[in-house]
Amino acid sequence: MELVPEKKPNLRIKRVIGVMSGKGGVGKSTVAVLLAQALAARGEKVGVLDADITGPSLPRLLGVDSFRAESDGQRLFPIVNEEGIKVLSINLFNEEEDQPVIWRGPLLGKAIAQFWADTEWGDLDYLVVDFPPGTSDVVLTALQTIPFSGIVMVGTPQNYVSMIVRKSVRMASMLKAPVLGFVENMATMVCPSCGEEVRLFDDGGSGGASGGAGGEASRLGLPLLAELPWRKEVAQARSLRWTVLPEAARKDADRIADAVGLALSDAEKTASRATAL
Ligand SMILES: Nc1ncnc2c1ncn2[C@@H]1O[C@H](COP(=O)(O)OP(=O)(O)OP(=O)(O)O)[C@@H](O)[C@H]1O
Ligand SMILES: [Mg+2]
Repeated sequence: MELVPEKKPNLRIKRVIGVMSGKGGVGKSTVAVLLAQALAARGEKVGVLDADITGPSLPRLLGVDSFRAESDGQRLFPIVNEEGIKVLSINLFNEEEDQPVIWRGPLLGKAIAQFWADTEWGDLDYLVVDFPPGTSDVVLTALQTIPFSGIVMVGTPQNYVSMIVRKSVRMASMLKAPVLGFVENMATMVCPSCGEEVRLFDDGGSGGASGGAGGEASRLGLPLLAELPWRKEVAQARSLRWTVLPEAARKDADRIADAVGLALSDAEKTASRATAL
């Protein structure tokens, strides 16, 4: 099979953003949801596709876990949350939230392809795709099937994490998905009592509270899109609903959305210059 087969565009979706990492538990889903919420709060039409079939977390984070998505046998219909975000996740089809999905790779890949091609997304300004960790079959299928406008890499500033994130960066590049930059998550922690911002990892990096921004991003050779500090309200929230988020977290989300918007415009300009040549 060709590594980069022809990707089928959906002309009703203007921009597709993947949130990846390679490493598990570094904040991909958190960043995907904050980004989607910030875009929706600006009046954009937003959808979120949960590509994490075996560890889906988006229904809860977007406050739709008590709903069930429907299918007419041909098309899948996403659930629309209170902020107007359309959500599709395997957990929205399971009877019970804790029902495991025990499928082999090809079946997982088929689910992703269906989520992309057979879903009634309608007109969207942005579709945000939350990736599972790793560089497995599902990640490969998603990158081969979905024509991403850009990929946002997420990581924490720890050496072994950088090594794993680099694998994802290389994989995305090999599959012709443009990497927009890096969101450095949890480099610092905002103390819930005094508000002081302290570094969480002593990795010799230079980003965050103790030094110049973007140590990790520059180590990865990527532009730094935004820094997202650890916040108690985010860690303890059952869902990341826009109205429930504290103002500081909404500002974090806005910074991510601003940076992603700029990086996408740059990537689009570069692509159109290349086409004109
Ligand atoms: N900036 C943050 N502040 C506080 N808690 C955070 C932050 N980012 C992530 N977390 C917490 O860390 C945990 C992992 O985050 P998340 O689920 O977003 O990571 P992930 O990369 O999507 O994980 P997985 O690889 O399992 O999909 C969650 O409990 C989340 O609430
Ligand atoms: Mg996740």
